[in-house]
Amino acid sequence: MDLDKEVYDGLNKQITHELEAWYTYLSLSAYFESKTLLGAAFWMRKQAEEEMGHAMKIFDYIHQRGAKAELGALPKPASSFPSVVAAFEAALAHEQKNTAHIYALLSLAESKSDEATVSFLKWFVDEQVEEEDSARKNLDLAKMCGDSAAALLQLDALLAKRKEGD
Ligand code: FEO
Repeated sequence: MDLDKEVYDGLNKQITHELEAWYTYLSLSAYFESKTLLGAAFWMRKQAEEEMGHAMKIFDYIHQRGAKAELGALPKPASSFPSVVAAFEAALAHEQKNTAHIYALLSLAESKSDEATVSFLKWFVDEQVEEEDSARKNLDLAKMCGDSAAALLQLDALLAKRKEGD
């Protein structure tokens, strides 16, 4: 393997972080299903699929570098939330945590002069900007709904329109 051991370990850990994100969004999807907010449930399910894609991107990269991916254990995700706003807050908090993981991994790759991994991780840096932005907008809109069921249903209808690649 031509990967530095610390970078290799960091990449494996990042697979687990992305799968944790997959699990978190799947749990959020289940929460919204249980509230009959099916648009929000759909949005979270689509996001879960994206997170699986992120994990697989790293999985493939490790193999392209001549090493073998090692999968870690996933913690149980939160499955109940005190409010709809709290559920959207949890999504944003998870993205912010993942951004910190990506930055730490990027710094490690830079410190090891692993230019290939630095280049590979730039995609994730850009992706995190988009994902935090989406999560923040969802949260802002959920807060705007306040106690209005009509507004919440409008937000739900908007989230149901999420397209491939959004
Ligand atoms: Fe793959 Fe939402 O971070």
